[in-house]
Amino acid sequence: MLPRRRRGRVEDPGSSSSAVRFPGVAIYLVEPRMGRSRRAFLTRLARSKGFRVLDAYSSAVTHVVMEQTSAEEATCWQESRATPVPGCPRPALLDIVWFTESMAAGQPVPVEGRHRLEEAVPREGPPSPVRMPPYACQRPTPLTHHNASLSEALEVLAEAAGFEGREGRLLAFRRAAAVLKALPCRVSALRQLQGLPHFGEHSRRVVQELLEHGACEEVEKVRLSERYRSMKLFTQVFGVGVRTADRWYQEGLRTLDDVREQVQRLTEQQKAGLQHHRDLGTPVQRPEAEALQQAVEAAVGLALPGATVTLAGGFRRGKLQGHDVDLLITHPQEGQEAGLLPRVMRCLKEQGLVLYHQHQRPHSGDPARWTRRSHTMDTYERSFCIFRLPRPPGAAGKAVRVDLVVVPISQFPFALLGWTGSKHFERELRQFSRKERGLWLNSHGLFDPEQKTFFCVDAEEDIFRHLGLAYLPPEQRNA
Ligand code: CTP
Ligand code: MN
Ligand code: MN
Repeated sequence: MLPRRRRGRVEDPGSSSSAVRFPGVAIYLVEPRMGRSRRAFLTRLARSKGFRVLDAYSSAVTHVVMEQTSAEEATCWQESRATPVPGCPRPALLDIVWFTESMAAGQPVPVEGRHRLEEAVPREGPPSPVRMPPYACQRPTPLTHHNASLSEALEVLAEAAGFEGREGRLLAFRRAAAVLKALPCRVSALRQLQGLPHFGEHSRRVVQELLEHGACEEVEKVRLSERYRSMKLFTQVFGVGVRTADRWYQEGLRTLDDVREQVQRLTEQQKAGLQHHRDLGTPVQRPEAEALQQAVEAAVGLALPGATVTLAGGFRRGKLQGHDVDLLITHPQEGQEAGLLPRVMRCLKEQGLVLYHQHQRPHSGDPARWTRRSHTMDTYERSFCIFRLPRPPGAAGKAVRVDLVVVPISQFPFALLGWTGSKHFERELRQFSRKERGLWLNSHGLFDPEQKTFFCVDAEEDIFRHLGLAYLPPEQRNA
């Protein structure tokens, strides 16, 4: 932590102390491994000391600084980014060590070999593999990455495998897709997959076809198949899982109109899902999520002063749109949250905001029981809702899916971690805990089955620390 007075200066790049003192040096901080907030902090820090830090990469950059990046990744990044300008020297690729030393010295320190990320030997033959740990929770995965078309193709195959109940196959494709999302550069040749974890024969073949022909026959076939299209259509309906969708398909249903004809067999949740299908199929935008959060905050504030509402799910990971809004409700005093949700729902109903809701009571009892429960469900009190977006009177607001979850404060960091996702990130985190650390993790806690003890934590950071993992901020959990 910087002293108060200096902190003020750091946050004000326009102040006189931030005049450029070293005109020969233009720094570019590379974001992916560093993370957005740390990059912003380091930028302010350097500027306050008179360093020039450029927001965008250009030929003016003299020093590229990266964190937790191997030489191979750095070179790969540079090749994907910069077309060398004749007569213009390439910028130095430097490890964060050069940056930290320069900040401490108050001036750019001379670049030494140990600062450099360039590969020591000239590049001949196959490149050394990118260092990529096997679990998604061991590496940052930003929201936007360099291999979207490749990862999307593999995810279609993963999803299709899920529709057939083939869990192993689903995981294999998801893991390969997640590796691509975490790569610091675009894959343009098959040899770049060498040494990467989770790239089996099948995934490799898909990538090869995409690189060579721009499309993969198997993926296109799946995408166009009646089976995939119907299953996707059905499972997108609120309240419909793979099992129900499969039953409908086996019975010969293909469209939502087919389903509507069977209305007597539908659950209330599915009926609501069908009724609002068009709105629910339109992505929720961030400002809409924030408007709903505010409406819920107001109701929560009335029902229990001091209680808080936290946006989790994809929006917390930095997504600009999503399929729903995930909100966690808690109160700083344990126990106060009991009985809160029905009061909140009543208040929202009175405002005409609730189109549908299904309340799930908290499960109680032996606290050790939940650690053995299914790893996808927790037992918090919650409400699966469809809200109407608050609008000026007279206008009908769009229907939006909202998950409200009530969490006792002592379990809040676990709930926040579990409800922030992504789903694949969570699955990998739990598996890492169990297989590599012998600990059971879910949205309620972290349990040591040998000692029969639970870990107490104050924040998400503590959970990563107990697991021996480097902390990943939400925006780097987009596996
Ligand atoms: N989750 C959970 N228990 C549920 C439903 C969801 O623990 N019954 C967790 C999921 O594992 C996920 C997070 O809550 O990590 C958010 O789930 P979801 O809303 O389905 O996904 P998002 O990542 O928010 O994606 P989207 O933006 O499409 O909503
Ligand atoms: Mn969500
Ligand atoms: Mn959700």
